[in-house]
Amino acid sequence: MIDKINAIRAELAAIASEGAAADVEALRIKYLSKKGAISALMNDFRNVPAEQKREIGQALNELKNYATDTINALREASAAGAAKSDAPDLTRTAAPLRTGTRHPLSLVREQIIDIFRRLGFTIAEGPEIEDDWHVFESLNFPADHPARDMQDTFFIGRNPDVLLRTHTSSVQTRVMTSQKPPIRIICPGRVYRNEAISARAHCFFHQVEALYVDRNVTFADLRQTLLYFAREMFGPQTEIRLRPSYFPFTEPSAEMDISCNLCGGKGCSFCKGTGWVEILGCGMVDPNVLESCGINSKEYTGFALGMGIERITNLKYQVKDLRMFSENDVRFLEEFTSAH
Ligand code: DAH
Repeated sequence: MIDKINAIRAELAAIASEGAAADVEALRIKYLSKKGAISALMNDFRNVPAEQKREIGQALNELKNYATDTINALREASAAGAAKSDAPDLTRTAAPLRTGTRHPLSLVREQIIDIFRRLGFTIAEGPEIEDDWHVFESLNFPADHPARDMQDTFFIGRNPDVLLRTHTSSVQTRVMTSQKPPIRIICPGRVYRNEAISARAHCFFHQVEALYVDRNVTFADLRQTLLYFAREMFGPQTEIRLRPSYFPFTEPSAEMDISCNLCGGKGCSFCKGTGWVEILGCGMVDPNVLESCGINSKEYTGFALGMGIERITNLKYQVKDLRMFSENDVRFLEEFTSAH
């Protein structure tokens, strides 16, 4: 027994003298595990004659301690070696990749565009820095209209003719002055207004404008387009209603309400008990606008409509505070992961 103990001790000493071992775990199993060499000796211990038990017991315990210390030291040495090496640690778990999410306004903008694309509309874009003619004058705004007031419009520098567009209707006249009817366009874009920032207003927001100019375009075409849009966007049960309104660039003008998609039209706090929520402005293009863009208003008619993307997004996803859209709080943005 003593010989066996000494043999194992010698083996361990030889291993320790090499300073490092390729597989420390294999050594632990070989010597210290339940089926290891030292445990086997421990099992044999019960056959040792009583008068030798003391001496051999002590030698066995020392061997076990020596083996434990040796293997621990080897483990530390190899861990330190691994830390120093440049080799990649293939045992590490992979860092999870966070996939990005699309911004809710982009999601809704794409949905709107997609619906109008199916009706044959194509995308048109215009500059955010505009001139007075495209934003106001060509759109039949009277010279003293309050929207021209400094309160609403951001001017760039001192020149009153260089401003940030307050609506995407400016793209209508950009297109009508450069293309001939038939015109069927959808214009998504960012617009700016000199408003104090709050939960319900922001100094920039997003609109989508649609314009259809051709021979024989009627209010019935507008209404059917709106109904199709509303049902595609908010579900087939959606009803629409048109209320007379005023915009300088359309005659007649209307505002469209949809049946409240939260209460189904019964009346709730969201629709202020009315069962309807307003979603966009629209109308037949005013003949003055067609003429100012060089389109013969005797030959052609058209309809136009404009909506706020934030408003549509609020209706779909009940975002209470407009500021959420521009704060880029990842916790908010990640809520739209499944909305793609
Ligand atoms: N430009 C309007 C606004 O900013 C929205 C609008 C209303 C656009 C009626 C239109 C329209 O094309 O026909 O509030």
